[in-house]
Amino acid sequence: MKTLLAGKKILFGISGSIAAYKAAEWVRELAKAEAEVTVVMTDAATRFVSGLTFASLSGRRVYTGMFEKDAGEDMTHISLAKESDLVVIAPATAQTLAKLAHGFADDLLSTLVLASNCKVLLFPAMNSNMYCHVATQANIAKLLEYGYEVIEPGQGKLACGDEGIGRLIDWQIAREKILSILAVQDLEGQTIVISAGPTWESFDPARLLSNRSSGKMGYALARVARRRGARVILVSGPSAIEPPPEVEVINVMSGEEMHKGMMAQYKSADIVVMAAAVSDYRPGKTMKQKVKKSNKSIEFELVPNPDILKKLGDKKKKANRPLLVGFAAESTEHIAEGRRKLKEKNLDLIVINDIIGKNTGFGTDTNQVSLIDRDYQLDKLPLLSKEECAEMIWDKVVKLLQ
Ligand code: PMT
Repeated sequence: MKTLLAGKKILFGISGSIAAYKAAEWVRELAKAEAEVTVVMTDAATRFVSGLTFASLSGRRVYTGMFEKDAGEDMTHISLAKESDLVVIAPATAQTLAKLAHGFADDLLSTLVLASNCKVLLFPAMNSNMYCHVATQANIAKLLEYGYEVIEPGQGKLACGDEGIGRLIDWQIAREKILSILAVQDLEGQTIVISAGPTWESFDPARLLSNRSSGKMGYALARVARRRGARVILVSGPSAIEPPPEVEVINVMSGEEMHKGMMAQYKSADIVVMAAAVSDYRPGKTMKQKVKKSNKSIEFELVPNPDILKKLGDKKKKANRPLLVGFAAESTEHIAEGRRKLKEKNLDLIVINDIIGKNTGFGTDTNQVSLIDRDYQLDKLPLLSKEECAEMIWDKVVKLLQ
């Protein structure tokens, strides 16, 4: 399975901070995702971590000096800069930020940054006083002015013992920044409302009716749409997943709450995606006290929940907006059922989910779906990670927007 970073040429600069050891994890993750990572270390960085560590993790030669033995052989260093899709510097020290802000080219890393013509992403890490110093802040302002992306460091206990801002941020946040900067911004200007996760329909204070949705598919759609430039509002049923960065999250519990949440949000939306597994029924009555156990069978009434997607589809008939994407969780007659739901709910696109196949549907990290658009064009997708699946769904939506 191809990863989103596969084949991307990343020039990875490391400058001299104790946080250099954390860069090892970043390089390992990038290499695991099949990015072509070439590491360039400043002299100070090599005092903290050996170049051998990064050579082993990246599977490539690590560059350290401007005047290494073979430096002149093919102007390798300059070609490295020119061929890159992205320059990442992590950790970026106060010294490195200062050099870049003033256009210095007195070592290999600063020379390569000047010679590159791709985006430059800087992840500062240093003591908080150094980071907050007016000189560092003025340098950062200058770098932003030049079009570099400078990511604010994290807060917490620092290696020097101080507490405050200055920690190298976690890999998961960095990964998101790297993917966003590499992504085509083809959803820029769109407001997208996405529902995700299950609903919980309470029977009594202890028990409820729900389903196996984890929220992974909906959250992946939200994360990828944000990366591609959209404003994203995620209406989420109960889920253990960390919300994607820069996504507005509205937490709901029951189908009725999700109905209210979606109706309040859809008006501002250009695109609505219902990836949530809304319970079709809820208990007719929610008991105030826990129902006591006995040996007798009990019966309770189930009443239908509002069909949110159908209501949105009916509204679309008058306003002709927003663009509406539904999901169908099917165990048999997938395509026929998908087609029926597409028509009945007046959708622009339906994503048909095989929920009993291996590694697909509820709770899995992968998914196998078929797409049918409003012209009844069918695309059967292979088994993909939910993130890749989200990429393919957005590709289709972008085509439908045109
Ligand atoms: O969350 P994960 O673990 O990652 O799993 C993903 C998923 C399998 C939940 C997801 O990909 C999926 O298929 N979601 C839709 C599940 C579903 O409710 O399918 P359905 O065929 O019953 O409903 C059709 C559509 O109507 C869906 O878009 C659903 O959100 C919507 N619906 C359903 C019932 C209801 N009362 N209101 C609705 O709007």
